[in-house]
Amino acid sequence: MLKDKTIILGVSGGIAAYKSAYLCSMLIKQRADVEVIMTENALNFIAPATFEALTGHRTMVDTFDRNHEFSTEHVSLADKADALIVAPATANVLAKFAHGIADDMLTTTVLACDCQKIAAPAMNTRMYDNPVTADNIEKLKAYGWEVLEPGSGRLACGSTGRGRMPEPERLLEALIHAVSAPKDMAGLKVLVSAGPTREELDPVRFITNHSSGKMGYAVAKAAAARGADVTLVTGPVGIPKPAYMDVVPVISANDMYNAIADREETSDIIIMAAAVADYTPVYYSEHKIKKQEGEFSVELERTDDILRALGENKRPGQTLVGFAMETENVVENGEKKLISKNADLIAANSAVEEGSGFQGDTNRLTLITAKGNEELPLMSKDKCAHKLLDAVLKLR
Ligand code: CTP
Repeated sequence: MLKDKTIILGVSGGIAAYKSAYLCSMLIKQRADVEVIMTENALNFIAPATFEALTGHRTMVDTFDRNHEFSTEHVSLADKADALIVAPATANVLAKFAHGIADDMLTTTVLACDCQKIAAPAMNTRMYDNPVTADNIEKLKAYGWEVLEPGSGRLACGSTGRGRMPEPERLLEALIHAVSAPKDMAGLKVLVSAGPTREELDPVRFITNHSSGKMGYAVAKAAAARGADVTLVTGPVGIPKPAYMDVVPVISANDMYNAIADREETSDIIIMAAAVADYTPVYYSEHKIKKQEGEFSVELERTDDILRALGENKRPGQTLVGFAMETENVVENGEKKLISKNADLIAANSAVEEGSGFQGDTNRLTLITAKGNEELPLMSKDKCAHKLLDAVLKLR
């Protein structure tokens, strides 16, 4: 997702510097070109060679290139950077950034950079809570920096509290959000549903399906990265809560119906990627149902069809997208759903085809609209999400 992007990774002197090597490796896997700049103090925690092996570039520490008498490398680096992240960012470097101090390669480059800048603070709780640091962070935010919230837990100094550097996955999420896509959905309110629903029979049992939520989450993240104001209504899934959107957790089809009904009117685009249960038990037992001799059957009743209801209430200017998960006649069934649910686009996919459907990281979608069908090849769910959003924007 960061192909052809140049990311400057600044590493200052904190124990969390070891986590930056993992972030660096993740950035390389996302096909980014990574340039690492370390402060002198960071050399106490991790060796430049670690980053050199990962990035294929020389790790920089000094303002003056070791091979030349004078260099303006900080300026040329700043010129080509798409984003800069400082992780870990100590109280000291945050103070320098906030006040324009440029006394080494990292601080000089930061001052010369006009790209998106992100800081991941890591320090002792009292240093983080000190009003001086808090003021510096506010200043940086006012200058356009994204300053991530540190986590809580056991710190290197032995105390417990706020000040842990966020995990590399969170840092990668920030970079992907910042630079992976053009902001062509800015100003649009997008409502996405994702995951399965869970229809409870008794306190220990429920009926659900194999949906992992990966496709819906990919759509929500892609829309947020493109600048949309996103609300994600999600059934129970094993995916960490994404940043940069409003997340509304729900359990049952009925909960999902209510959460979406509350937000439908103000949404410009609604994308129903959830695998909503079509049936729910008629009776819920307050106590665990005990086994008995002989057969046992469960009486089920229909849930409301959320997409159909949205189609019936669709207001002018609103774009409605559904998914069709099929095991046979994928496109034909998708075309029927486009009409029966009054949707503007149906993304049809197969539950049985290799590489498609629930659980995996890839999918093969056919995008069905009144104007015709677009068959996409097998690709990652992240890429599918962007292709789907491209098609949605084309419809609007
Ligand atoms: N959907 C919904 N509410 C339901 C069931 C489905 O909003 N109670 C939405 C899904 O989120 C999806 C679309 O309808 O966007 C199609 O879902 P799918 O399960 O493929 O089809 P169904 O409408 O349930 O029809 P069938 O099960 O007969 O294929």
